[in-house]
Amino acid sequence: MSTYEKPDFWAQKAKKEGYPARSVYKLMEIDKKFGLIKSDSRILDIGAAPGSWSLWVLQRLAGKGFLAAVDLQDIGMQPPYENFLFVRGDLYDDSVRSRLLAVSPFGLVLSDAAPATTGNRFVDQSASEGIVEAVIDYAEASLSPGGAMVAKIFQGGAEAGLLKRLRKSFAQARGFKPEACRSESFETYLVATGFKGRAKS
Ligand SMILES: C[S@@+](CC[C@H](N)C(=O)[O-])C[C@H]1O[C@@H](n2cnc3c(N)ncnc32)[C@H](O)[C@@H]1O
Repeated sequence: MSTYEKPDFWAQKAKKEGYPARSVYKLMEIDKKFGLIKSDSRILDIGAAPGSWSLWVLQRLAGKGFLAAVDLQDIGMQPPYENFLFVRGDLYDDSVRSRLLAVSPFGLVLSDAAPATTGNRFVDQSASEGIVEAVIDYAEASLSPGGAMVAKIFQGGAEAGLLKRLRKSFAQARGFKPEACRSESFETYLVATGFKGRAKS
């Protein structure tokens, strides 16, 4: 077992570095690979609690740009800058969606949202797929042309169809599994870049 695979390596690192969750290292790897966060980006973080992605994004923005975040749970972290809006609620809720779209456009939509797991892999994968579909809806409604999105998905067969959908509205879309994901975990991330712009109705 490598150092990175030890069960508590990333959790201990997060604690030491002041992040509320180990998942921050997944976003760091994704951003290192795809270069998504610019110093003045406007970003939406879906499924943001306890807040390690949001905290790191705010640190990267250092007071410029803007971050909106949503979660069913309260966000645990203290935002270090004021360019931040947190909406507590369900991403499927129309009033939550309206509040978030009111502060669009965004250059980047992030989602680490995951359903509460039931232990039934098929049920959990379907719920995760539903969340990703909803996140793509948010991205298509709120991104500026050229924008990007990242969404966590529980692997199980839906990825190919979701990537096919993403390639209709983005120039590129692919899967990416950061090393900071637990080796036994069946989660991965879909990353789409080069948003082609909103479909004309
Ligand atoms: C793995 S955690 C996110 C961790 C976060 N990226 C961080 O770094 O702290 C997944 C989150 O998705 C949220 N979530 C799941 N379903 C949701 C929904 N329907 N609406 C809003 N948030 C949701 C959960 O409440 C949970 O906090």
